[in-house]
Amino acid sequence: MATITIVGTQWGDEGKGKIVDILSEYVDIIARFQGGHNAGHTVYLNKQKYILHSIPTGILHPNKTCIIGNGVVIDPNAFIQEVEALKKLGVKIAPENLRVSKRAHLIMPYNCTFDLEREKKKGKNKIGTTGRGIGPAYEDKMARVGMCIGDLLHEDTLTKSIQNALPEKNSLLKNYFETQEISPETLLEECKKYGDILKDYLADTSVLLNKAMTEGKDILCEGAQGTMLDIDHGTYPFVTSSNCIAGQACIGLGFGPNKVDGILGVTKAYTTRVGNGPFPTELTDDIGKSIQDKGKEFGATTGRPRRCGWFDAVGLRYAIRVNGLQTIALTKMDVLDHLDTIKVCTGYKWKGETFHDFPYEAKILQECTPIYKEISGWQKTIHGTKQYEDLPQKTKDYVKFLQDTLEIDISIVSTGFERKETIFINNSLLDQWLKLSNRLVN
Ligand code: IMP
Repeated sequence: MATITIVGTQWGDEGKGKIVDILSEYVDIIARFQGGHNAGHTVYLNKQKYILHSIPTGILHPNKTCIIGNGVVIDPNAFIQEVEALKKLGVKIAPENLRVSKRAHLIMPYNCTFDLEREKKKGKNKIGTTGRGIGPAYEDKMARVGMCIGDLLHEDTLTKSIQNALPEKNSLLKNYFETQEISPETLLEECKKYGDILKDYLADTSVLLNKAMTEGKDILCEGAQGTMLDIDHGTYPFVTSSNCIAGQACIGLGFGPNKVDGILGVTKAYTTRVGNGPFPTELTDDIGKSIQDKGKEFGATTGRPRRCGWFDAVGLRYAIRVNGLQTIALTKMDVLDHLDTIKVCTGYKWKGETFHDFPYEAKILQECTPIYKEISGWQKTIHGTKQYEDLPQKTKDYVKFLQDTLEIDISIVSTGFERKETIFINNSLLDQWLKLSNRLVN
């Protein structure tokens, strides 16, 4: 298995949480490499629902090490609350099994205010952010006025950083957003308090990971959000503020690109999007509503309803290209059980032109007409099916059609929320990776 990166291929919420959870059993370390608590990875275990935001999904496996890399942004207050909430559900979380990179940047209280206030000012043109301060925290990192979580351990560095950042922030808070300024003394005291609570979790996680690789440990790099939300490759400006694609695993964790052995993309059997922005295959009719209801398509972080639509093979081919995907986990297949016809978008038409490559222009994505291939639905429940052979022929035809259209291996078909409601496809790439590391799927 060695080092495998898992990423979302659409607009997030593809079911990465479940896939990372089941694969965590076969590795030693699970490491998050970007995003923050805007992410919401939902995992069902024995009917108990767990929602992870900043903490890697692998934490639900008590004997694994979880790492939060330098590419993640952390709101210390939200992080502490998440740890406490998971502990209450019986999840083991301690500095022995959760290590946080000292280089991860902090989300400060003013980052959150900026995020919310900017969205208010944008009105109907808002991005539809999660309002968690993610974008402003990454901005501060790039503007070199950010604070690393490791700074919490050094009062002198922290004091200087706060003095460096606050005058500009306070001026904007007071004059532009017309909200309350932040006192440097109060902020410093708050940060010191967080430092006391978090100090034992902090480490140089790049050293830990590279050492683990040398020792032959198996590692899962866990992406958040999805390709179409990537700051460089997504549907800009309706994107998140980090790179969500596979290349970011190296940057956000601190190892070389030559260390990654495999890249797996997680893809829903249809498409969803939360927040604003173009969505060529969106369904605003009863079919969309039925997918939303059956798929429980409501945001894990904000509870917002997710927009639903047909599978977009143009977008997927793009995700395969920019991530270098080698294999795919197809999730939420059972949500399509009730449909008599299923559509897959194979191209876009715009002003007489046909696009098979995902266009850069948001305008084209907004105005194009999808070209659909219609596929007959299976209209039987496949919920909970565990063996590929037990799927109806029409479900297999849908999987085969996607595989041929996308020209990629499919390793997993997920048929329900629970761990056991999963089909591992024999001789898929993932199967081979697991066999190579002698960690066979039973
Ligand atoms: P932000 O990441 O909070 O700045 O939000 C920017 C865009 O990314 C918005 O459209 C959000 O809805 C979307 N987004 C952020 N995190 C997730 C996620 O985990 N799943 C789906 N969409 C997300």
